[in-house]
Amino acid sequence: MLFSATKLLLGAACLLFGAAQAQDDCGEGPWQDVSYTGGDGGGRFCATKWKAGVVVTGVEVWADKGSVRAVQFYYSDGTNSQQWGKVDGDKHARLDWDPAVDGISQIKTWGNGRAQYLGRVFIRTKKGAELDVGKDTSGQDTFETNVASGIMLGAFGSCGDRIDNMGFLFLKSKIEKITIDDVVFSETPEMLNARMEGLETVILDYADHTNANTAATETFTFGKTDTKSTTKSFSNTATNSFGWSTATELSGKILDLGASSTTTLKYDYSKATTEESSTTNTVMLTYSVATVLAPGQRTFCRATAMSGTYKGDYTSTVNIWLEDGTTFGFEQEGTMEQVNWSKASSVCQDNDFPPEKRAVKFIS
Ligand SMILES: *[C@@H]1O[C@H](CO)[C@@H](O)[C@H](O)[C@H]1NC(C)=O
Repeated sequence: MLFSATKLLLGAACLLFGAAQAQDDCGEGPWQDVSYTGGDGGGRFCATKWKAGVVVTGVEVWADKGSVRAVQFYYSDGTNSQQWGKVDGDKHARLDWDPAVDGISQIKTWGNGRAQYLGRVFIRTKKGAELDVGKDTSGQDTFETNVASGIMLGAFGSCGDRIDNMGFLFLKSKIEKITIDDVVFSETPEMLNARMEGLETVILDYADHTNANTAATETFTFGKTDTKSTTKSFSNTATNSFGWSTATELSGKILDLGASSTTTLKYDYSKATTEESSTTNTVMLTYSVATVLAPGQRTFCRATAMSGTYKGDYTSTVNIWLEDGTTFGFEQEGTMEQVNWSKASSVCQDNDFPPEKRAVKFIS
């Protein structure tokens, strides 16, 4: 009883999708030569999130000796589609691939030999992983899918208790470049400067020195070179999903934490073109001050530098430029993280610094 109720519900879900066929996201998109294999029954299903810049990264198939029974898809944003058809039969496999380094090199499909259902699916990734699930198709025609770029954007078909038919959607051409445009951070430089967000004056070194000679003067040198690392990195998942590892340029209002004067930092919009790839550098903070001390004279020295640490979110439009001359874009959020240092400065004086300005780590 429970069994047949489940069956009914699954059939109904497919019929609902059938009604929405004209409007679903599997209609128009950056693909071409789309084909499908199987019969004409069942209700429409469409598995894609291409409009959000999300690609398919996994396929799961169930079958029995008659046909493919159910399919499910996995996406680059970590989500999955529903299961279409009815999960049943003694044949089953799932294939996942990492879109950053792998893609699809071949897909072959077969009907059930009577033009009613999808009979069998074979998928191979560029790295050689395979999925092969379905009925015995010996003697039947094999249908090859044009996988184009190898980037799977979605799949569509019809189902009831079985998968009546199915086809795949592949990005039609190789990617020429990806740009991240219209970058807008949720905060402005003015807002961040007003509250000194993440900015602090750090004490690099402190000395309390007395010339111990009874007659001679002494030249006391307070100086050192400190090494600090600075970084600037952007994270945006689109480039990974589309297997893009070449530098990606960002444009728009890009926040930057840089020098305000030699010894202070402030937020501003970047004037240089910025690349998404992260940069890490080391900077040398050098300071030196020589003081001539009379016998018994005491001096207090301090070296400081300003450090800035920022982590913030931005919205952007990711544009994908294809080798065939077409482009498409989608909205995507990203995060930027930056650590920077101003140059160091040092001072020596006769009177000690207030206690809180002596410690080796503190905020001015
Ligand atoms: C740190 O600030 C300097 C000076 O404004 C700037 O040239 C540099 O690009 C910044 N470094 C990082 C990693 O953001």
